[in-house]
Amino acid sequence: MRPTRSRAALCALLTSLMLAGTAAIDAHHRPAAALDNGLERTPVMGWNSWNRYQCNINEALVRRQADAMVSTGMRDAGYRYINVDDCWQSSRDSAGNIVADPVRFPGGMKALGDYIHARGLKFGVYSDRGTLTCAGRPGSQGHEYQDARSYAAWGVDLLKYDNCNAQLDQQSQYETMRDALAASGRQIVYSICAWEFKPWQPKAGNQARTTGDIGDDYTSHPGNGLLPVDRIIDINNDYAMYAHPGYFNDPDMLQVGNYGTGSTNGNGMTDTEYQTHFSMWALMAAPLIAGNDLTAMNAATRTILTNPEVIAVDQDPLGAQGRRIRDLGDQEIWSKKVQGSGVRVVALWNRAAATASIHVDWSDIGLGAGTATVRDLHARADRGSFTGGYTTAVPSHGVALLRVAGAETPDAVRITKTDPRTITGLRVRTEFLINDEWHDDFEDTGTLDHSTTLNLDGNGATWNGSRWVGDLLRTAASTAGPAVVTVDRTDPRPIYGVRVSVSFTVDGQPHYDYEDLNLLSGTANLQLNANGGSWNGTQWVGDFLRPSAA
Ligand code: GLA
Repeated sequence: MRPTRSRAALCALLTSLMLAGTAAIDAHHRPAAALDNGLERTPVMGWNSWNRYQCNINEALVRRQADAMVSTGMRDAGYRYINVDDCWQSSRDSAGNIVADPVRFPGGMKALGDYIHARGLKFGVYSDRGTLTCAGRPGSQGHEYQDARSYAAWGVDLLKYDNCNAQLDQQSQYETMRDALAASGRQIVYSICAWEFKPWQPKAGNQARTTGDIGDDYTSHPGNGLLPVDRIIDINNDYAMYAHPGYFNDPDMLQVGNYGTGSTNGNGMTDTEYQTHFSMWALMAAPLIAGNDLTAMNAATRTILTNPEVIAVDQDPLGAQGRRIRDLGDQEIWSKKVQGSGVRVVALWNRAAATASIHVDWSDIGLGAGTATVRDLHARADRGSFTGGYTTAVPSHGVALLRVAGAETPDAVRITKTDPRTITGLRVRTEFLINDEWHDDFEDTGTLDHSTTLNLDGNGATWNGSRWVGDLLRTAASTAGPAVVTVDRTDPRPIYGVRVSVSFTVDGQPHYDYEDLNLLSGTANLQLNANGGSWNGTQWVGDFLRPSAA
């Protein structure tokens, strides 16, 4: 974990540990880890009115965007949802039914949905869990089932559900709308917009916002109160372990192509920065919701938004969120496992003000040291075959997005020691998802001065109300030799959400850290070092466990 950027993840961990103590649930009614509505097996792709237009919307504008979705090739590139954000509503009728603004949407929402569906697209709307939406229109509080029935009658395919003007319990209100959508008789993707990740959200929605609202800025721009792209990427990375088919983290909608034209949105970005924004969203398996005027896209915007090779990274069926695996200061290496043996997508991100050369070693991304082929997904060109690793120059604020195909290594986590001091009392804990359910176990391996092999398996355990616990991590071998703990997979099923945490003692002081791997794939090499860190009142916490080359 990177201490300067991962405090929120620690809070999330503590919250999930607290949740682990909740009352037992009948084994036949276990909640799945993700909302069980069968939707969003890959992240949603579409368009939303907010980033460009805020409240200045009407049905003619939405229809023009739907037409442009088709005529620009966006639909054929995979974009489907046309989402009408805040300000389509005006009031409730005498029976309490939500009514569309009669001036801006005179044809009504059903007709708008029909128009969108006739173009092979899907229809999304917006509401809020409180009494009023963020822009002051009627919210759904107390009308959840009634509103869900209206949406179903209009042919709505997605609901974005916001967090303003609410006094009641957040989780219960989001779950009430989840249940209302399920009871509506229509399959409706449920998009939670509560501006920060909470561990209950993957069970409530198909996607959930992890951050406040995005600005049209690459890096911070004092004054507009919106988050820049670079900051959002850092925050969204903290929740990577929760993403898998059925639930994806939502770092907010795209600003690609707005160039500062949205009325409240920021200074705009360069095309290089928009390409970084889009590429990192794809690497993080984020919903790709365009927020620009599709009727007036320039060539650069269209190229970025419709690049099929970048979209394929986002839509990869494994559904794992890519993560930062190495932080070299202003240069970073990110990796995402995608379908296929030995295949990774790598983002080499240069956050510095000048061009920099960035190197990825095959061992960083869990591949064997031999040769691997490299394809540049922006240039859409093969770069050749390279031994051991690859180096390329990356412009300021740019990413190189590479598809690397090499030799798969065994699915394992190897923890080696770089600290010369004696490390005692080592406890290795694993939390992970199998078949959409959380599993949790630890093993005490004692002094780190020999070789220990642990086996990870999701079978044979009991349900404690929120996760499976049992002997899911166990010692298979313990022999004299180099100081290393290896966690091997014995369960053949896909293992998502892998968090490996270590607690241990150095010089009489307790220490703690964790690393998220998201998907157990290839060999993840981690190194353990007790230097740095800060005292949290009980133990030292800091970046004690971090990725390393083999
Ligand atoms: C909040 C949301 C935005 C947008 C507006 C609408 O700020 O986070 O995405 O939906 O409300 O008022």
